[in-house]
Amino acid sequence: MRTETAPIVRLEDYRPTDFLIDTVALDVILDPTATMVRAELSLRRNPDGRADAPLVLQGDELTLHSIALDGTPLATELYLADPQGLTIRGPLPASFNLTVETVVNPSANTKLMGLYRSGGNYCTQCEADGFRRITYFLDRPDVLSVYTTRLEAERDDAPLLLANGNLVESGDIPGGSRHYAVWHDPHPKPAYLFALVGGTLDTVAEDFVTASGRKVEIAIHVEAGKRDRAAYALDALKRSMRWDETAFGREYDLDVFNVVAVSDFNMGAMENKGLNIFNDKYVLASSDTATDADYAGIETVIAHEYFHNWTGNRITCRDWFQLCLKEGLTVFRDQEFSSDERSRPVKRIADVRTLRTQQFAEDSGPLSHPVRPRTYREINNFYTATVYEKGAEIVRMLRGLIGAPAFRRGMDLYFERFDGTAATIEDFLSCFAEASGQDLAHFAQWYEQAGTPVVTASGEYEAASGTYRLTLRQSTPPTPGQPIKKPMVIPIALGLVGVSGEALPMVTTNEASVDEDGLFVLDTDAATITFTGLPEQPVPSLLRGFSAPVRLEATLSDDELLVLFRHDSDPFNQWQAGQTLATRHIRAMMRGERVGATFGEGLGHFLDRYATNDPAFAAQVLALPSEADIAREIGRDINPTAIHEARLAVKRALGAELAPRLKALHAALRSADAYSPDAASAGRRSLRNTALDLLAGGAPAEGETLAAAQFDQADNMTERFGALAVLALIPGQAREEALAAFASRYRDNPLVLDKWFALQAGIPEEAILDRIAELARHPAFSMGNPNRVRSLYGSFAMTNATQFNRDDGRGYDLIADTVLALDPRNPQIAARLLTAFRTWRILEPVRRGKAEAALRRVAATQGLSPDVSDIAGRSLD
Ligand code: BES
Ligand code: ZN
Repeated sequence: MRTETAPIVRLEDYRPTDFLIDTVALDVILDPTATMVRAELSLRRNPDGRADAPLVLQGDELTLHSIALDGTPLATELYLADPQGLTIRGPLPASFNLTVETVVNPSANTKLMGLYRSGGNYCTQCEADGFRRITYFLDRPDVLSVYTTRLEAERDDAPLLLANGNLVESGDIPGGSRHYAVWHDPHPKPAYLFALVGGTLDTVAEDFVTASGRKVEIAIHVEAGKRDRAAYALDALKRSMRWDETAFGREYDLDVFNVVAVSDFNMGAMENKGLNIFNDKYVLASSDTATDADYAGIETVIAHEYFHNWTGNRITCRDWFQLCLKEGLTVFRDQEFSSDERSRPVKRIADVRTLRTQQFAEDSGPLSHPVRPRTYREINNFYTATVYEKGAEIVRMLRGLIGAPAFRRGMDLYFERFDGTAATIEDFLSCFAEASGQDLAHFAQWYEQAGTPVVTASGEYEAASGTYRLTLRQSTPPTPGQPIKKPMVIPIALGLVGVSGEALPMVTTNEASVDEDGLFVLDTDAATITFTGLPEQPVPSLLRGFSAPVRLEATLSDDELLVLFRHDSDPFNQWQAGQTLATRHIRAMMRGERVGATFGEGLGHFLDRYATNDPAFAAQVLALPSEADIAREIGRDINPTAIHEARLAVKRALGAELAPRLKALHAALRSADAYSPDAASAGRRSLRNTALDLLAGGAPAEGETLAAAQFDQADNMTERFGALAVLALIPGQAREEALAAFASRYRDNPLVLDKWFALQAGIPEEAILDRIAELARHPAFSMGNPNRVRSLYGSFAMTNATQFNRDDGRGYDLIADTVLALDPRNPQIAARLLTAFRTWRILEPVRRGKAEAALRRVAATQGLSPDVSDIAGRSLD
């Protein structure tokens, strides 16, 4: 067993390897329990390494079968091998070939890292450090090699054999039932991008011709029998490939692009060169089985992994501290793609919701870390919302600061200069500094300093002179290891709005302070902007488009917020004003204050104006802030039950006040057309479901009747599941019947049953623990499948705030027990589940005590994986 506490890895300790591996020739004889891997590595000393250092290769649970140096078996006294590594001491030539045979057992691989079996097929997952579970290697991202992979298997067992690159040869092995395939990837790559697949898969394929005329066969491979759900993924792939050509001038660079969907996968998907491997949740869709959100998710993930071909694969990371170099940038790129394919404002709102619920939550608690961390114990725990989502926000701010043309020039320079290398954040930023002529040294703090900056704004209007002084201040609360914070470079897009909605002129005394697009850059602790020539008191619209990942605290009255809600030309801030008003109402309710009608009236007007011409936007506005959003606003002594009840009370009041409008909307938005997943149709369904949900809050009996009818009549999953979700919140016979009907209809579809598990796990009722225990015994449930675990336990811990945070502590105990049960089997998934405790410190004392006790119980358990031990340890720090 590995040590409980893994050693700390530090960015400052980076040094190049002592050896380089130019080529790798793998020969893999696939077998369910004893796969033989023969690796021939051509090695040479790295001129940048230490001249006399031994060769140290990493391994993980490997069994060594044979080892030879330049064709001659290596004497046992010259090397040291154990499951964790291989060290060759002897005097080594300047360059040599090392041939190593290892044996691995894919069927016993429950961690789903390295080579494993899923649905009877063979597949791999190597990022971040899984390649060492296949063969001994310099398993780090700055070692780039050209790979040739030969696969061999029983033809019946694995008719399809795939690896990275292009197929160069395949055929039968004479005199038997076996066959083989040889793949060659001409692009040097790190080991984490290696992949192979073997098995029985159904394929949809098409030719794609790149902008410069290269013909590429693009193919989606799915488990047998699921072919009719692969079309949308293929369509999304084609659109992604075209978009990267037009938006970034990036073409695909191999003869084939393969995507394989498997049912057991720790993450969403993986960008292996030329052979992306996907959790089938992000591939399979049909109108009967997938919601509009599922379709959008597929589009996002297909695009994301495809975009990595340039941002991640052609240019990779020097070390794992630079993870945001590929992930933050690629999230930015997939967000831009979806914005172009769908509605930009609606996509922005959705992305900011995710950023706030995930990243702000992470950043305000014990797991807070910089976008580029300086230390880690377990790298798999750093694929976080901070690295991904805040990492993407930094790239977006950069574009905002230097402008789109300079940004594009900087990207072009980055591709040109660093193609084929393992790069750093400094490399990346240097391209934009050069392209824009701007000094980005201060801006680079965004990668180093953790925590969410708070920007406070206050304004003063002097009617006599028509002057408005806007003072902006910033501060960042302390985070683990960073008690003292520096001011950041915060781009604040702003406008001034008159009470009847007109945009007011923005003339400042200091010409340079606000540019013609309304951008002000706050890069000191505080600054005051003086606007002149204002005929009336303006309402400031700040942080338009969410121009920086900060918390904004502006002292606006309800009436001023209403002005922005009605009239702001920036749709993001229009939405934000509505959310702020709703949050105020809910918090007032919690204090027992009487709540005025402002927001309800505003919403009514809003619906009249937008429900027909922009239903997707209207749906976002109609959706109340989540319980987690409100908890974050309050920030301390959180009682999730009090928040839940106040939010419900506001929802009831709004639902009742708007009932006639909501009912009319729900009826009018019913479509007679056949289902199509396009953004416009999805927007109408989204508003229809949101209207139903709010109506059911205000008029439960009527809501229940309408939901039951929608559930029965729906011809698509979005409306069927939307109705079920409304019913799930109304205890009684109708709910149980609908849940049973749904389970029976989809009994053979695990991905749909995941929705059913997740929905029930989120029911905010005392009896939920019994229901969860029962669901865990359901024949479709398995602790071996990450999607099932996430659906049942992940949803409970992350979405059922009142029950996870029960004051008797039983919610915490359930998750702690599950983490401990899961850890020996799949430590990555166990560690992720444990992050549900990341906000425990802001709870009120009773719950805080119970959460801490559960965390301490996990931390004190013997034989924890490094993954769980790391999260438990940092959560308690
Ligand atoms: N490179 C990651 C997959 C990965 C994550 C490998 C963690 C190893 C550890 C991939 O590109 C990725 O980021 N996938 C995301 C989805 C994406 C749309 C943000 C995922 O798997 O959640
Ligand atoms: Zn990624």
